[in-house]
Amino acid sequence: MVKVAVVGATGVVGSKLIEMLEHYEIKYDELVLFASKRSSGKEVSVGGQTYVIQELTEERAQEKFDYVVMSAGGSTSEKFAPLFEESGAIVIDNSSHWRMKEDVDLIVPEINKPKLKRKIIANPNCSTIQSVVALQPLQNKFGVKRVHYATYQSVSGSGEGGIRDLEEGANGAEPTTYPHPIYNNVLPHIDDFLDDGYTKEEKKMMDETKKILEDDSIEVTATCVRVPIITSHAVQMNVTLDKEATVDEVKKAFEGFPHIVVMDNPEKNEYPTPLDAANRSEIFVGRIRKDPTLLNTFHVWCVGDNLLKGAAQNTVQILKSLMDNNN
Ligand code: A2P
Repeated sequence: MVKVAVVGATGVVGSKLIEMLEHYEIKYDELVLFASKRSSGKEVSVGGQTYVIQELTEERAQEKFDYVVMSAGGSTSEKFAPLFEESGAIVIDNSSHWRMKEDVDLIVPEINKPKLKRKIIANPNCSTIQSVVALQPLQNKFGVKRVHYATYQSVSGSGEGGIRDLEEGANGAEPTTYPHPIYNNVLPHIDDFLDDGYTKEEKKMMDETKKILEDDSIEVTATCVRVPIITSHAVQMNVTLDKEATVDEVKKAFEGFPHIVVMDNPEKNEYPTPLDAANRSEIFVGRIRKDPTLLNTFHVWCVGDNLLKGAAQNTVQILKSLMDNNN
């Protein structure tokens, strides 16, 4: 008898989590869909069956679940993940709250495996997931010494509120999620500012990259930018390798790695765009070229669907690998 819960089932990522449960053919005997009190009683269809959204309360979090996937923000995860964990569930959480805790695994299944010191597993930041998938083959073949990320992130990364600011901004509405209009604009500001001038989103990319690649010696810096598109994040990566390599060798390293598609034919105007990556499970790379200003350094343009590999798909891949290992 396997009992699974989805927390945040009415959200942008939550609805993709439900799609991914079907896509990865996750087997359960009972599924419970939680959201806040606001959505309690709403109906959602999963695999042809109708489910009623339940309000998440402390009492419900102490029921016995086997697996809980959460995408309901940091404060909900902080409060409820330990309650589910204490009641015996394995929790896979999409918020940033648990990611950098020493005893919590931060997992991208193509790259690392959970050690399960605690029964909370964190799903990494969306831009970080696609970036580390692209970095891992370079780390394997050449070693990565340094990376500079510049991101171009879609508004669905901010949930319903981000999409609303873009869509209603087109009709002249004032923004309610962002501090400035996102329609017809770009904002070099994602998440709160820290004392050193970086944003929390930039710090997440810098810290999480090292944790997932299990290499504290990699130098990482980032600038994160919100752009007025609905789906997919793009990351311009400037990567310094430990060893000399040619552009062809770098392309070959990508081609041999799971879930990476090389799309790099400038003579035919072929390079990955957010529209190419939307609704696709793979990470796309292109514009691969040498940086003439730094030794052993390459530019790589990397695009992925932030709601799929950047969130729901990665979470359900983790769930599937745990379930497969338990069989
Ligand atoms: P609700 O729809 O009831 O507000 P998004 O990031 O797309 O805005 O989605 C956030 C998700 O997290 C929604 O499903 C939202 O439910 C859910 N959520 C927010 N606060 C809570 C809470 N305290 N308990 C459970 N779910 C929550």
